[in-house]
Amino acid sequence: MSRLVRFGISMDEQLLAMFDKQIVSQGYATRSEAVRDLIRNRLVEQEWEDEEQEVAGTITLIYDHHVRGLGSLLTELQHHSHDLILSATHVHLDHHNCLEVLIIKGQSGKVRQVADRLIGVKGVKHGKLTITSTGRKLK
Ligand code: NI
Repeated sequence: MSRLVRFGISMDEQLLAMFDKQIVSQGYATRSEAVRDLIRNRLVEQEWEDEEQEVAGTITLIYDHHVRGLGSLLTELQHHSHDLILSATHVHLDHHNCLEVLIIKGQSGKVRQVADRLIGVKGVKHGKLTITSTGRKLK
């Protein structure tokens, strides 16, 4: 583990009061932990923007399996990206709806392409990509 460094931040009193109120409601024990998380999130967000950065995450899809050909189209698309999709879990939510969660890892740009393609399929009611950076750069 690297060394801890202390530093001071000057800030408007009102802004700090708003921040303190928010971090208490989020359950943070200390300001330091909240500031560390903010910085980490910002760094991860910046890495997503880099197309060559390796990312890992999940794609969540909700769709109506009564829509003709939809299930097989989604499976077909996933097979095209078998090198990125590590696992797929299918849950029959109710009589109509299926929930699918895919675990995905690869180059940021490619991961986003696959997610956009799947989420954009007609009949997919809701879709969401959640990613985090692995810290590795792919060329
Ligand atoms: Ni199902």
